[in-house]
Amino acid sequence: MTAVPDEAADPTFFTLDAAKADLMQVESLTTACLNWDYGKRDSRVWSLYEKNKASQWNATTDIDWDHDVRFGAELTEENGARLAGFVVGEGSPVPRELLTQFRWEYQAWMCSQFLHGEQGALVTTARLVETVPDMDAKTYAASQVADEARHVEAFAKYMDEKLGTVYPVNPGLGTLLHDVLSESRWDIVYLGMQVVMEGLAITGLRLASSGFGDPLIRQITKMVAADEARHIAFGVTMLTGMYQDAMSAELKEREDFLMESIRLMSTRFMLREVWERMELDVDKGLRFARTNPMMATYRQLLFQQVVHVLRQLGLLTERVKELLLAENLVRPETMVSTR
Ligand SMILES: [Fe+2]
Ligand SMILES: [Fe+2]
Repeated sequence: MTAVPDEAADPTFFTLDAAKADLMQVESLTTACLNWDYGKRDSRVWSLYEKNKASQWNATTDIDWDHDVRFGAELTEENGARLAGFVVGEGSPVPRELLTQFRWEYQAWMCSQFLHGEQGALVTTARLVETVPDMDAKTYAASQVADEARHVEAFAKYMDEKLGTVYPVNPGLGTLLHDVLSESRWDIVYLGMQVVMEGLAITGLRLASSGFGDPLIRQITKMVAADEARHIAFGVTMLTGMYQDAMSAELKEREDFLMESIRLMSTRFMLREVWERMELDVDKGLRFARTNPMMATYRQLLFQQVVHVLRQLGLLTERVKELLLAENLVRPETMVSTR
């Protein structure tokens, strides 16, 4: 497994310089499989597949691209990015006169990470088409790949044509994508993508769909979030019951993977790249992001969905709980029952 990036020092593996390179290549040894049994269907997976087919939308025609988005324009409280409105006052590196700029940079950073995460979902789910043994799961995964391609299309068009700027992939996200794509065990791919990354993304998208400053991005995030709900359900369906009779060594490997994923995703929300681009005091920004109560609440909200699914799967173990508490990603009272 890859070394865990330490936010205090830059990540040892996936540095910002690496993130700025055009291409990330991942070597892996995977086993592709074909399944000749076409009759055997898991009705839950098949019904998700039917829903996916019926819920396809067209990023070209179903989104109102005529909205004028002016990066850097003054925002009123009504249309401002409310999510970022708290970044003023004590301990904040953002002076009041830079609040509008910060809101736009924050929105650009968030949308950039959505975009990179969508590409990650596209490629990792394509991997599942190859490696997962059941034909119905291959079929569903293929339909998810089409969803993810559309999500990449929508976010990329928004960044390119409307914001005119894009941040590199966050090192924590890049490292986790690298870990997942290096994996040969398909259930761990589900844990990394459908449970952790999509679990975080759905809440982030929903918050963005009500908090961001322009109607266009609110529409895009809302439509993408609706698809993500089905993708998460696919992961939960595939993994339910899988770990009940697992050997302790197998369980420990899943637990180790989850703990590294949680650490990586925790470092993602420190906004280092935003502090750097705005030429603000980076140490002050990192300290603020780590300790500000509203930022901590935001991270806890993001992790709620992940915790919920881990509990369902029997993977909210003592070690995972301890890590979530140590990283302040959950409120202690929500950790009472583990399984
Ligand atoms: Fe997606
Ligand atoms: Fe997805």
